[in-house]
Amino acid sequence: MTPDSDSASVRRPARLRGSIAIPGDKSITHRALIFNALAHGEARIERFLDAADTRSTIDCLRMLGADIEQPAPGRVVVCGAGRGGLSEPDDVLNCGNSGTTMRLLAGMLAGMPMLAVLTGDGSLRQRPMGRIVRPLMALGADVTARAESTLPPLVIRGGSLAGGARVETPVASAQVKSALLLAGLAADGPTTVVEPARSRDHTERMLAAMGATVQVEGAAVTITPPDGDLTAANIVVPGDISTAAPWIVAATMHPDAELLLTGVGVNPTRTGLLDVLREMGAEIELLDERTSGGEPVADLRVRSARLRGVEVGGDLVPRAIDELPLVALAGALADGETVIRDAAELRVKESDRVATTATVLGALGVELEERPDGMAVRGGAQLRAAHVDSAGDHRLAMLAAVAGLLADGETVVHGTEAVSVSYPEFWTELARLGATPAVAAR
Ligand code: S3P
Repeated sequence: MTPDSDSASVRRPARLRGSIAIPGDKSITHRALIFNALAHGEARIERFLDAADTRSTIDCLRMLGADIEQPAPGRVVVCGAGRGGLSEPDDVLNCGNSGTTMRLLAGMLAGMPMLAVLTGDGSLRQRPMGRIVRPLMALGADVTARAESTLPPLVIRGGSLAGGARVETPVASAQVKSALLLAGLAADGPTTVVEPARSRDHTERMLAAMGATVQVEGAAVTITPPDGDLTAANIVVPGDISTAAPWIVAATMHPDAELLLTGVGVNPTRTGLLDVLREMGAEIELLDERTSGGEPVADLRVRSARLRGVEVGGDLVPRAIDELPLVALAGALADGETVIRDAAELRVKESDRVATTATVLGALGVELEERPDGMAVRGGAQLRAAHVDSAGDHRLAMLAAVAGLLADGETVVHGTEAVSVSYPEFWTELARLGATPAVAAR
């Protein structure tokens, strides 16, 4: 069959060899843009992720009056005039598919004297917002939302917030934590956020580098706003380990593979996938460990390996949350059973990733049992080609492609466009590795 413009054929190359420069981290790019728009001074952000999600953040910030230029590919310059330099938007802010944009901007806007309405695409408008609305209201913010304050659009009438608050969040979520820390920046004293387990800490690192006082004790973070505005900070954004993840799993599970993934962020709050795969028997080396933008970075060399099943749960889950569908794929090809638990959060991502992972991998012949908080995957699968759909979810599109790259025959992935939110070059890289004849010819 000839794939249409939103489909791609994927087949298993005889060997998987090469080097891939990993594009900038999505979480860090969002934060670099938002925090510098709030700050005073000029910031150069190099190697930023130029993709639909981060474009949504740029567009919203511009509507709030931020001065953001792109003088060269891969570089943006944010000229911040402090929080007083931002002004009430004259239209609804559209966050597209990006949960990070909506939740972080909601936290920022809660403490600013203006009215703002935040909306998003059909997927984002189904994602839970009560998790930020409730704690922001506890801080004194005026935030309302559809469906009894649980779903977007959000309406925020920003204003002054009380300091000295301690907020406990019911889920380990960096988006929720970051929203509350941003609101805390506008409070008249310290704000403490306590999570059930520690989520990614890019916000803490960056806000501290920009002049806020940030104290971390276990899963509790306390922010004390600086006197005056944050100070702008130049940042070279590390590569996104979630973007490297499909290649890490492809190289591990392919029988004749060696890939070098360069410039990958290896912040310990993000490297759960590496820990899980190593426990399963993977061969992943960290080379040339260095620091960039206040974050640890390395090149990753990944070779074929034979894996055994694993149990994933507890504190590891937030450290690997976006990679768990790929863990399920690795588990399907490993010896023995793999169980993922404590991961109910998967059900409220860009799609219900328990259900969509089960559909995609099931179509390729994997035996997978859905559970309320995760899944159980039977190992030793023989993947066979199929037609699969991304369900509009970028991570599922990449999961399906990697599964196709490991399967017998030619798999067709529908809904390829979904990758544009986080990794627009994905299909080109896959073609370069010899795995997508149709896309290569396009
Ligand atoms: C993100 C945090 C995670 C992750 C998402 C990006 C961030 O979400 O799944 O892709 O940039 O803070 P939660 O914090 O809601 O778990």
